[in-house]
This record gives sequence, C-alpha cells and structure tokens, in this order.
Amino acid sequence: MLEKLGRNLPCWCGSGKKYKNCHYDFDERLQDFKRQGALVPSHKLIKNAEQIAGIKESCKVNIAVLDKVAEVICEGMPTSEIDRIVYETTTAMGAIPAPLHYQGFPYSVCTSVNEQVCHGFPSKDVILKSGDIINVDCTSKLNGYYADSSRMFLIGDVSPEKKKLVEVTKECVELGLEQVKPWGFLGDVGQAVNDHAKANGYQVVRDIGGHGCGVEFHEDPFVSFVTKRGEEMLMAPGMVFTIEPMVNMGTCEHVTNKQNGWEVSTRDGKPSAQWEIMVLVTETGHEVLSY
Ligand code: MF3
Ligand code: CO
Ligand code: CO
Repeated sequence: MLEKLGRNLPCWCGSGKKYKNCHYDFDERLQDFKRQGALVPSHKLIKNAEQIAGIKESCKVNIAVLDKVAEVICEGMPTSEIDRIVYETTTAMGAIPAPLHYQGFPYSVCTSVNEQVCHGFPSKDVILKSGDIINVDCTSKLNGYYADSSRMFLIGDVSPEKKKLVEVTKECVELGLEQVKPWGFLGDVGQAVNDHAKANGYQVVRDIGGHGCGVEFHEDPFVSFVTKRGEEMLMAPGMVFTIEPMVNMGTCEHVTNKQNGWEVSTRDGKPSAQWEIMVLVTETGHEVLSY
C-alpha cells in the first residue's frame, strides 16, 4: 500500500529529508502506474542511501570471496574445500556466509556440479574432475546487509557443448541486465533472458529464480525468467534484486533430492548452468552490485 504522508513530514525512506523533497514525486509516479494496473513495489523494497551503502560493503566481501574461489578452484579439489575456503574468507572479512543454517541449509555455500541445477551440497566425496562445470553461489551478510551472486567455473577440458551452455547463460544474465532501468518491468528482464536461452535451444527453469535482496536474504519480488515484456513488477529506483536464471541443456524439469530436501538436479540428467548478478535500480539505469 502506498501511504499518504504530509508533504512536510520526514520521508518514509528514512533519509531525514522532507517528503516533498524526497520520495513525493516518486510516489506520484508509482500511483500513476498503479492506476494503470501495474504491479508496483512496496516502500519496503525501496532502499535508502544508508541501506545501499551497507549493501555495497557486503557486496565487496561477496566479490572477494568469489575471487578467492576463482583463484584456487581446480581439478582434484573436493567441493568441501570450496565450502571451507568460503567460510574462512568470509569470516576473515568480518562477515557471515548467509547460507549456513539458512532454513536448515548445512553449508556456507552452494556448489552445483554438471546436472545439478542449484543448492548443491559441498562434499568431500564430490571431487572436481576435468570436464566438469560448477556453479559456486555465495551469499555474504555484513552488518545485517546481504550480498548474493554466483559464478560458473570450467574444470580442465570441458566439452564445447557444456562450454557453450555456460557462455550463453552468462549472456542471458547480461542481456537481462541491459533491461534494468527505472519504470521498466521485470518481465523485460525475463523475456530478454528467455529469448536468448531459447534461441540457443535451451530451457529456463520456471519455478526457481531471482529475488529482491539486501535487507533480507530473499525479499520480494520473485524474479522469473519465463515472463513477458511489460509484465511483472515495475522497476523503481532503490530496488535491489538478483538476476539468476538456471539454464538447462535439455528439459527445464527438475527433481529435488529426497534425502536432504535441498539439492536440485535436472530430470533428464543433462547439464544446467547459472550465473547470478545482484543489481540496483538507479535514477538513470542500473548499477551492478555483486557479480
Ligand atoms: N544463494 C541462493 C540464491 O541465489 C540461495 C541459496 S539458499 C541456501 O538465492 F540455503 F541454499 F543457501
Ligand atoms: Co539469489
Ligand atoms: Co545466490
């Protein structure tokens, strides 16, 4: 709900400025879109300058952790070693790996290999071998603020087919990113991602996707990549969300590990790739926060 606030009262965003000098025009614009039937973000999803500064500090940690993983990841390494490195690097920077104990998740990072779609458990028994592709998904929490992004890594000699899947998935994220600007719609992002995946013969996972992020690990909105231009939530300055499509070489259908309730794999056993970027909607376009 958009609240009515006196023009001379402090703005709801917590900036300390008068409403009329801060988010008044913003709210008018939101109301216009709402009247036209658009799904508009609640005030809770609009970050103020202080929150954005905190989120950016957290993102510095997250990027450093992923850089560290990039430096050391190699053939012969058990994925449990990635978990250890993520834990050590994150805590050494004064942050917490947010996945640890999140809704019972037992590790500091998700490591999803080959046909694993997401939420892979690091394990001493999963030893990276030549030809593997792996997604390492890191989330850092610093001073209460979250940063979430993931990268793919190629291990040793990877087949041209799998290499292409990884490359195209990255292109999907970057094409989606190009669509991020104020007063556009999340469906613009979704369609850009989906069109590129489809054009390459791939399928995008439907029911797992991106999300608002920063003050909580997972906030509204859900960011789907099977959506259409002009649909879904309006993008407004101050929103922070992730673009993180899971792109499958075969079917988009997937199964969840019944033993642990977390690990998601493709139903047909064909490879899946994912990159995750965290982005801020600005007054003029967007700013990449974590990648
Ligand atoms: N980092 C994942 C995401 O991009 C979420 C992982 S949830 C966890 O949203 F519990 F597995 F960590
Ligand atoms: Co995410
Ligand atoms: Co993530």
